[in-house]
Amino acid sequence: MRLSSVTSTLALVASAIAAPKSCPDGSHQLPSTTIAGVKVIDTPLVQKARKLIEANFEPYLVRHMYRSWLFGVAAINNNATLASEIDLEVHALGTLLHDLGWDQRPDSPWRTPDRRFEIDGAIGATNWIKENGVKEEWGDVRLQLVWDAISLHGTPSISEYKQPNVRFIVESISMDYPGPHPALTEEDYNNIIAAYDQDGLLEGTNDTFTFLCRTKPIATYDTWIEPWGVAFVEGYNPVGHRLFDRANPNVTSPPLKRHFHGVY
Ligand SMILES: *[C@@H]1O[C@H](CO)[C@@H](O)[C@H](O)[C@H]1NC(C)=O
Ligand SMILES: *[C@@H]1O[C@H](CO)[C@@H](O)[C@H](O)[C@H]1NC(C)=O
Ligand SMILES: *[C@@H]1O[C@H](CO)[C@@H](O)[C@H](O)[C@H]1NC(C)=O
Repeated sequence: MRLSSVTSTLALVASAIAAPKSCPDGSHQLPSTTIAGVKVIDTPLVQKARKLIEANFEPYLVRHMYRSWLFGVAAINNNATLASEIDLEVHALGTLLHDLGWDQRPDSPWRTPDRRFEIDGAIGATNWIKENGVKEEWGDVRLQLVWDAISLHGTPSISEYKQPNVRFIVESISMDYPGPHPALTEEDYNNIIAAYDQDGLLEGTNDTFTFLCRTKPIATYDTWIEPWGVAFVEGYNPVGHRLFDRANPNVTSPPLKRHFHGVY
């Protein structure tokens, strides 16, 4: 156990009395349940999001989505600062729904042929929340936090300077590559891994990024996914799609609009 139990106890108390962003008067206790020893938020929308990913994604990916959520919540429950600044429902949806853009099924409702996968995820998740959430609880600000966190989840060097909710959703996802993480107690880490093992994560990540470079290269050129295309996809060629190719008259570049749309 890395954090002293005194700190943990104080943090738990703080977490219990922290008013969620959606209930500014603090009058209303959020419903909760316990998963892998971690006390988590249990609103109808979070329950529905869990059913959505369980029904639509491969087990290794469902486990990654759960670990991202649970690692993050375990850290929040042990840190009064985090507990006071994180909207637990925004965090749950941002972590559970962050990889909708990884759906490899041909009829995926989320994967587009031309947007980078983080944008597919951000748009898919926020549209789903708009359709399934309580309208009065999901104003533009909370939706934007989910959108920003998912769109930036592969770019922590940017997200770490965003709002606490955005920063910490991305950090929760990063805790799975690989654990354990200093924000987690060993007990929490071991409980979560025992319930949701990491088998298949690295292979699945590699397979997904290779798939995206093969099937929608335009959404991967000049992004951090590009190396998978260069290394593993025959015929993949970023030349002409890199920003600096614009200065080279010998290279035919795609139209500027296409290059920037959904890519920058
Ligand atoms: C608690 O979280 C805050 C905000 O992320 C961080 O600055 C601080 O170092 C954390 N404290 C501990 C004890 O981990
Ligand atoms: C990643 O995927 C490529 C293409 O399928 C494969 O050649 C390579 O061995 C994989 N690497 C890992 C570490 O799984
Ligand atoms: C463009 O092609 C010409 C002819 O092959 C070559 O001399 C020139 O260096 C090239 N320019 C750049 C910027 O690559």
